[in-house]
Amino acid sequence: MRVMVTGGTGFTGSHTVRALRAAGHETRLLVRDPEKVERVFGPGAISPDELVVGDVRDAASVRDALAGCEAVVHAAAMVSLKAAEARQVLETNLEGVENVIGQAAEQGVGRIVHVSSLAIFFSPGCTPLHPEMPIPAGSTAYSESKARAERYVRHLQAEGAPIHVSYPVGIIGPDDPGISGANHALYTWFRDLTIKTSTGFQIVDVRDLAELHRRLVEHEGPPGRFAAAGETVSWYELPDFIESLTGTRLRYLVIPGRLLRALGWVGDQVKRVKDFNFPLTLDTMRFASQWPGTAPCTGSEALGLRIRPIRESYADTLRWMERAGHLSRRQIGRLAE
Ligand SMILES: NC(=O)c1ccc[n+]([C@@H]2O[C@H](COP(=O)([O-])OP(=O)(O)OC[C@H]3O[C@@H](n4cnc5c(N)ncnc54)[C@H](OP(=O)(O)O)[C@@H]3O)[C@@H](O)[C@H]2O)c1
Repeated sequence: MRVMVTGGTGFTGSHTVRALRAAGHETRLLVRDPEKVERVFGPGAISPDELVVGDVRDAASVRDALAGCEAVVHAAAMVSLKAAEARQVLETNLEGVENVIGQAAEQGVGRIVHVSSLAIFFSPGCTPLHPEMPIPAGSTAYSESKARAERYVRHLQAEGAPIHVSYPVGIIGPDDPGISGANHALYTWFRDLTIKTSTGFQIVDVRDLAELHRRLVEHEGPPGRFAAAGETVSWYELPDFIESLTGTRLRYLVIPGRLLRALGWVGDQVKRVKDFNFPLTLDTMRFASQWPGTAPCTGSEALGLRIRPIRESYADTLRWMERAGHLSRRQIGRLAE
């Protein structure tokens, strides 16, 4: 199949391209910067077949990229916590889904995959998350953009468009072009410190998510919703869990959830005066300290997807962080051996 992929220079999209290419599909990427494609995929490695230079906000370039494709995976999104970029985040992610998913449905593309997030179902005090829950309003521009995109996609699904939706939790794994959200959290535990607080940290391996996308492109069943989530490690167990992998110690602070959320609120106020992209926000601290975990996930298992053990995901990610120069050999301890 010829598959158009957006976000192919990003973490999820680049792994999805590799999974599609390894399964024998042709890939066409809509990219803003063709030189970045070289940097992300490297010489001699599995790389996309075709590029269309454009932007998900530009309907004409999306139309060109979709022409002649039998499937599309929409993994592009703008992720920023800067107050000054809130409007741009909302506009990019909404126009992106309308242009990519909307035009694909209009043109009769047979297999459409939209990358959402399981976090769109989160609200403080909610039950374990699953894709059939109601969608609360987002509390940041990013979460609101994902919630609105989801409503738009559901509207098209209800009209019969062949759209599958994937719902990852925090994505970690090797070969991340930009050190995205969950990988960045892992990196800061080594660079700065981690916390012991309420609830825990839940991840999915990017390679398993990419494999889900490959299966969804090939899936002939009716439009569906597919969660992608591995195990949760409680914040209290996390330093010991990491030590069991590396043999090195992580520094940590014990911070009750309520205090953590108060600090997040302070972060929001500071951002009004001096903007920064560090995830010290009330929203992020709620996710960190009130994360309910996921309900046993249906859907992805039915496709035969195997989510690898989290020890493997953490170990491979830390080894990659060392190879890429983000962490030192000393920091990853026996994983470097
Ligand atoms: N990372 C996580 O933990 C996580 C968790 C749940 C859900 N998700 C969702 O998963 C998807 C992928 O996330 P990710 O972390 O893999 O993303 P990422 O690494 O930040 O990559 C984002 C991609 O989107 C592209 N993009 C952004 N704005 C664009 C525009 N206007 N036109 C064309 N391309 C544009 C970027 O292109 P450039 O290379 O040109 O910047 C890049 O290829 C997103 O929908 C995100 O909301 C992520």
